[in-house]
Amino acid sequence: MKLVLVGFMGSGKTTVSQLIGQKLRIPVLDLDQVIVKQAKRTIPQIFTESGEEGFRMIEHDALENISDLNGVLATGGGTVLRADNREIIHNMGALVVRLEASSEVIFKRLKNQTGRPLGDGLNVQSIEQMQNLRNGAYEDCSDLVINTDKLTAPEIADKITGMLV
Ligand code: S3P
Repeated sequence: MKLVLVGFMGSGKTTVSQLIGQKLRIPVLDLDQVIVKQAKRTIPQIFTESGEEGFRMIEHDALENISDLNGVLATGGGTVLRADNREIIHNMGALVVRLEASSEVIFKRLKNQTGRPLGDGLNVQSIEQMQNLRNGAYEDCSDLVINTDKLTAPEIADKITGMLV
Protein backbone atom coordinates (compact mmCIF):
# COMPACT_ATOMS: atom_id res chain seq x y z
CA MET A 1 0.00 0.00 0.00
CA LYS A 2 1.44 3.35 -1.06
CA LEU A 3 -0.33 6.56 -0.21
CA VAL A 4 0.92 10.16 -0.32
CA LEU A 5 -0.90 13.09 1.29
CA VAL A 6 -0.36 16.56 -0.14
CA GLY A 7 -1.93 19.91 0.68
CA PHE A 8 -1.52 23.27 2.35
CA MET A 9 -0.21 23.76 5.89
CA GLY A 10 -2.91 22.86 8.38
CA SER A 11 -4.85 20.66 5.99
CA GLY A 12 -4.36 17.66 8.32
CA LYS A 13 -1.71 15.65 6.47
CA THR A 14 0.32 14.65 9.54
CA THR A 15 -2.60 13.68 11.79
CA VAL A 16 -4.49 11.88 9.04
CA SER A 17 -1.38 9.94 7.93
CA GLN A 18 -0.93 8.68 11.50
CA LEU A 19 -4.55 7.59 11.76
CA ILE A 20 -4.37 5.78 8.41
CA GLY A 21 -1.12 4.09 9.46
CA GLN A 22 -2.75 2.82 12.68
CA LYS A 23 -5.88 1.71 10.89
CA LEU A 24 -4.21 -0.16 8.06
CA ARG A 25 -1.12 -1.16 10.07
CA ILE A 26 1.21 0.30 7.49
CA PRO A 27 4.36 2.37 8.05
CA VAL A 28 3.95 6.15 8.31
CA LEU A 29 6.52 8.68 7.18
CA ASP A 30 6.24 12.40 7.78
CA LEU A 31 8.61 14.31 5.53
CA ASP A 32 9.11 17.17 8.03
CA GLN A 33 10.07 14.63 10.70
CA VAL A 34 12.45 12.88 8.31
CA ILE A 35 14.07 16.27 7.61
CA VAL A 36 14.41 17.12 11.32
CA LYS A 37 16.00 13.73 11.99
CA GLN A 38 18.40 13.94 9.06
CA ALA A 39 19.37 17.59 9.57
CA LYS A 40 19.44 17.30 13.39
CA ARG A 41 17.76 20.72 13.43
CA THR A 42 14.17 21.87 13.85
CA ILE A 43 12.29 23.27 10.83
CA PRO A 44 12.43 26.87 12.23
CA GLN A 45 16.19 26.44 12.85
CA ILE A 46 16.73 25.32 9.26
CA PHE A 47 14.79 28.32 7.93
CA THR A 48 16.70 30.73 10.18
CA GLU A 49 20.14 29.32 9.40
CA SER A 50 19.73 28.24 5.75
CA GLY A 51 16.69 30.18 4.52
CA GLU A 52 13.77 28.75 2.57
CA GLU A 53 16.13 27.85 -0.28
CA GLY A 54 18.28 25.75 2.05
CA PHE A 55 15.20 24.11 3.51
CA ARG A 56 13.92 23.21 0.03
CA MET A 57 17.24 21.57 -0.84
CA ILE A 58 17.17 19.48 2.34
CA GLU A 59 13.51 18.68 1.70
CA HIS A 60 14.30 17.52 -1.85
CA ASP A 61 17.15 15.28 -0.65
CA ALA A 62 14.95 13.79 2.07
CA LEU A 63 12.21 13.04 -0.45
CA GLU A 64 14.70 11.45 -2.82
CA ASN A 65 15.98 9.23 0.00
CA ILE A 66 12.51 7.86 0.68
CA SER A 67 11.43 7.51 -2.95
CA ASP A 68 11.13 3.76 -2.36
CA LEU A 69 7.98 4.42 -0.32
CA ASN A 70 6.16 1.66 1.50
CA GLY A 71 3.14 2.90 3.47
CA VAL A 72 1.78 6.40 3.90
CA LEU A 73 3.76 9.61 3.44
CA ALA A 74 2.69 13.02 4.73
CA THR A 75 4.50 15.66 2.68
CA GLY A 76 5.15 19.25 3.76
CA GLY A 77 2.84 21.96 2.47
CA GLY A 78 5.48 23.22 0.04
CA THR A 79 7.01 19.92 -1.06
CA VAL A 80 5.11 19.71 -4.34
CA LEU A 81 6.07 23.24 -5.42
CA ARG A 82 9.17 21.83 -7.11
CA ALA A 83 8.50 19.99 -10.36
CA ASP A 84 11.28 17.49 -9.61
CA ASN A 85 9.61 16.67 -6.28
CA ARG A 86 6.30 16.12 -8.05
CA GLU A 87 8.15 13.79 -10.41
CA ILE A 88 9.60 11.79 -7.49
CA ILE A 89 6.13 11.49 -5.97
CA HIS A 90 4.64 10.46 -9.31
CA ASN A 91 7.30 7.77 -9.68
CA MET A 92 6.49 6.36 -6.23
CA GLY A 93 3.45 4.77 -7.84
CA ALA A 94 1.31 5.81 -4.88
CA LEU A 95 -2.24 7.06 -4.64
CA VAL A 96 -1.77 10.81 -4.11
CA VAL A 97 -4.53 12.43 -2.07
CA ARG A 98 -4.83 16.18 -1.72
CA LEU A 99 -6.34 17.47 1.51
CA GLU A 100 -8.00 20.80 0.85
CA ALA A 101 -9.45 23.38 3.22
CA SER A 102 -10.73 26.95 2.96
CA SER A 103 -8.52 29.85 4.02
CA GLU A 104 -10.85 30.50 6.98
CA VAL A 105 -10.49 26.96 8.27
CA ILE A 106 -6.73 26.92 7.70
CA PHE A 107 -6.44 30.19 9.61
CA LYS A 108 -8.33 28.75 12.60
CA ARG A 109 -6.15 25.63 12.58
CA LEU A 110 -2.83 27.51 12.25
CA LYS A 111 -3.41 30.41 14.58
CA ASN A 112 -2.64 28.53 17.80
CA GLN A 113 0.23 26.50 16.41
CA THR A 114 3.93 27.29 16.19
CA GLY A 115 6.86 25.80 14.31
CA ARG A 116 5.83 26.81 10.79
CA PRO A 117 8.13 29.59 9.56
CA LEU A 118 5.93 30.27 6.53
CA GLY A 119 2.72 29.99 8.52
CA ASP A 120 3.51 32.49 11.26
CA GLY A 121 1.57 35.72 11.08
CA LEU A 122 -0.66 34.71 8.18
CA ASN A 123 -4.23 36.00 8.06
CA VAL A 124 -7.19 34.71 6.06
CA GLN A 125 -6.31 36.93 3.10
CA SER A 126 -2.61 36.04 2.96
CA ILE A 127 -3.47 32.35 3.34
CA GLU A 128 -5.82 32.66 0.37
CA GLN A 129 -3.11 34.39 -1.68
CA MET A 130 -0.63 31.66 -0.86
CA GLN A 131 -3.19 28.97 -1.67
CA ASN A 132 -3.84 30.59 -5.05
CA LEU A 133 -0.12 30.43 -5.81
CA ARG A 134 0.11 26.79 -4.78
CA ASN A 135 -3.18 25.28 -5.94
CA GLY A 136 -1.85 24.45 -9.41
CA ALA A 137 0.99 22.38 -7.95
CA TYR A 138 -1.33 20.45 -5.62
CA GLU A 139 -3.74 19.80 -8.49
CA ASP A 140 -0.95 18.75 -10.80
CA CYS A 141 0.22 15.87 -8.64
CA SER A 142 -2.91 14.55 -6.94
CA ASP A 143 -5.21 11.72 -7.98
CA LEU A 144 -8.09 12.86 -5.80
CA VAL A 145 -9.12 15.73 -3.54
CA ILE A 146 -10.89 15.72 -0.19
CA ASN A 147 -12.36 18.89 1.21
CA THR A 148 -11.69 18.74 4.93
CA ASP A 149 -13.56 21.87 6.07
CA LYS A 150 -16.37 19.98 7.77
CA LEU A 151 -14.53 16.77 8.59
CA THR A 152 -12.58 15.65 11.65
CA ALA A 153 -9.23 13.91 11.17
CA PRO A 154 -10.73 10.43 11.90
CA GLU A 155 -13.48 11.14 9.35
CA ILE A 156 -10.91 12.09 6.72
CA ALA A 157 -8.89 8.96 7.49
CA ASP A 158 -12.05 6.81 7.21
CA LYS A 159 -12.95 8.43 3.91
CA ILE A 160 -9.51 7.69 2.46
CA THR A 161 -9.31 4.12 3.72
CA GLY A 162 -12.87 3.55 2.47
CA MET A 163 -11.72 4.50 -1.01
CA LEU A 164 -8.90 1.99 -0.89
CA VAL A 165 -11.07 -1.11 -0.55
C1 S3P B 1 5.82 24.37 4.62
C2 S3P B 1 5.00 23.51 5.32
C3 S3P B 1 5.47 22.77 6.50
C4 S3P B 1 7.00 22.59 6.48
C5 S3P B 1 7.69 23.89 6.27
C6 S3P B 1 7.26 24.57 4.96
C7 S3P B 1 5.24 25.08 3.45
O1 S3P B 1 4.82 21.51 6.57
O2 S3P B 1 7.37 21.67 5.50
O3 S3P B 1 7.43 24.72 7.36
O4 S3P B 1 6.01 25.63 2.64
O5 S3P B 1 3.99 25.09 3.32
P1 S3P B 1 3.25 21.33 6.99
O6 S3P B 1 2.45 21.42 5.74
O7 S3P B 1 3.21 19.97 7.59
O8 S3P B 1 2.93 22.41 7.96
